[in-house]
Amino acid sequence: MIEIVPESPELHADAIEALYDRTFGPGHFAKTAERLREGNRSRPDLTRIAISNGAVIGVCRIWPIVVGADRAPAVFVGPVAVEPGFQGQRLGLTVTGEALEAATAAGCGAAIIIGAPQYFGELGFTVVAPDRFSFPGPQDMARVMVRDLAGSADALSGAVSAY
Ligand SMILES: CC(C)(COP(=O)(O)OP(=O)(O)OC[C@H]1O[C@@H](n2cnc3c(N)ncnc32)[C@H](O)[C@@H]1OP(=O)(O)O)[C@@H](O)C(=O)NCCC(=O)NCCS
Repeated sequence: MIEIVPESPELHADAIEALYDRTFGPGHFAKTAERLREGNRSRPDLTRIAISNGAVIGVCRIWPIVVGADRAPAVFVGPVAVEPGFQGQRLGLTVTGEALEAATAAGCGAAIIIGAPQYFGELGFTVVAPDRFSFPGPQDMARVMVRDLAGSADALSGAVSAY
């Protein structure tokens, strides 16, 4: 049986980091997306993990970010990872969908994600115009997507940062 639950950092944080290392490999901290996470604090209450037999086998974390000159609040979604032996059941979409529902219920206005449009498009994410956002490092804008949550993503534009 697979359970989807919020993150309890004292129970799950180490297992989540180990899952990221196994699925993305050691290079993942070099990505520009990591610049929005380092020194930031994720929202364990909105993060969703998949548990099987006590082991963390899937995760989607949620991070607070601000966007543009008016520092509009939004959430940054990910990384999304599924244990290789459990891939092929759309578990990444399940944990991400449940994390987005939690963020919506908490009143978060809109979400930004960086990933594969074919995959995350299924959850309502759409790719943005290439000049709409800037990031703290080089970024392939064809992988940058937004989605409405409790509010609209339409007004978001400009520099995306952790604070
Ligand atoms: C991406 C990941 C979370 C998907 O795992 P999953 O939820 O088990 O996905 P599934 O294997 O069930 O695939 C579901 C569908 O998405 C497609 N898909 C999976 N990964 C994809 C990707 N990277 N790009 C495009 N499509 C993808 C599959 O082909 C499948 O399509 P179908 O339903 O038409 O057959 C998993 O492969 C993983 O952990 N990868 C390493 C980490 C990573 O790259 N994360 C994503 C970036 S945030």
